[in-house]
Amino acid sequence: MLTSKQLFLLIIVAALVVISCAFYWILFTEFRSNRLADGAALRSAAGGPSSSLALSAPATYDFDQNLVVIYNRVPKTGSTSFVNIAYDLCKRNKYHVLHINVTANMHVLSLPNQVSFVRNVTGWNAMKPALYHGHMAFLDFSRFQMPFKPIYINLVRKPLDRLVSYYYFLRYGDNYRPNLVRKKAGNKMTFDECVEEKQPDCDPKNMWLQIPFFCGHAAECWDPGSEWALNQAKQNLVNEYFLVGVTEEMEDFIDLLEKSLPRLFKGFKEHYQHSNKSHLRQTSSKIPPSDETIAAIKQSKIWKMENELYEFALKQFQFTRKKLTIPDKNKLQTFMYEKIRPK
Ligand SMILES: *[C@@H]1O[C@H](CO)[C@@H](O)[C@H](O)[C@H]1NC(C)=O
Ligand SMILES: *[C@@H]1O[C@H](CO)[C@@H](O)[C@H](O)[C@H]1NC(C)=O
Ligand SMILES: *[C@@H]1O[C@H](CO)[C@@H](O)[C@H](O)[C@H]1NC(C)=O
Repeated sequence: MLTSKQLFLLIIVAALVVISCAFYWILFTEFRSNRLADGAALRSAAGGPSSSLALSAPATYDFDQNLVVIYNRVPKTGSTSFVNIAYDLCKRNKYHVLHINVTANMHVLSLPNQVSFVRNVTGWNAMKPALYHGHMAFLDFSRFQMPFKPIYINLVRKPLDRLVSYYYFLRYGDNYRPNLVRKKAGNKMTFDECVEEKQPDCDPKNMWLQIPFFCGHAAECWDPGSEWALNQAKQNLVNEYFLVGVTEEMEDFIDLLEKSLPRLFKGFKEHYQHSNKSHLRQTSSKIPPSDETIAAIKQSKIWKMENELYEFALKQFQFTRKKLTIPDKNKLQTFMYEKIRPK
């Protein structure tokens, strides 16, 4: 039997337990309601419909469900092949693909459109996960008070190859939309002749495109020959882009994406290898430039700078690819946590 003293102590202990439980409960509800308020504020700021996005606690935030990838593709870099795969697999993998269509194919968005685009992409939860693609220069979401930044990806191509491809594309189109009459259809001048006669269509200034695409929406980005722009493009390429591949090694680009972000890119490699549609787009009637033409173009400052960006991107890409299986070529790198303290 308990003595009255023991009974008294027991009551005190029980009371203490009840009080501390109540205290924690109050703390917890307070915390939750703060979270809910934050979530609501975030949702209304983003202008989106209600969703689990802002409601979920960090530990349960669904990164895959909220994945937004922007592929601001540079014209004539093989981007259509990649986008075709994305369209083929969007239903199976359950994500959305959206094309960004800007008036007259402009690469720079107006200021009001920058705001709309950034808010729309961030808040449009019904589209998530999503892949947006378009011929648009890099746009930094953090300048617009956004809570989340999307993942940027891109491909670069050897600048002269890209120019030659574009040159013939304007004249002969491609096998993708063969009946579409292109801007320079009927013009039979070869690229070599064009360079020899110093025509504007093959002016090295036309190669100034990959640098401004990576550099972004600043005026200086669009000044052919700007060292600042080249530097900014490099900075963005490593700091703001998740992955930049090269057209010449597209399969490895796809493989790296699939391994890193399977929620979107699952099955891309296999589809790329086996579907004949992914290789479909080829500029018709392309004549390779002569050695003299190549030598002349390589003398230009613009080629040298664009090529510097290409080589920079290539080195970064090959470095990233190599790290996948170092030191053992036959094994993917792994990592884990250990020595977790306190127990
Ligand atoms: C973009 O929109 C314009 C206007 O609606 C349309 O004429 C054009 O074909 C579109 N571009 C593409 C590539 O679909
Ligand atoms: C984004 O834009 C589309 C098309 O204009 C619109 O239907 C959608 O409601 C917008 N979403 C948000 C969150 O603003
Ligand atoms: C391309 O794909 C289609 C349908 O999937 C198939 O009928 C055709 O034989 C393929 N062509 C080549 C060259 O593989």
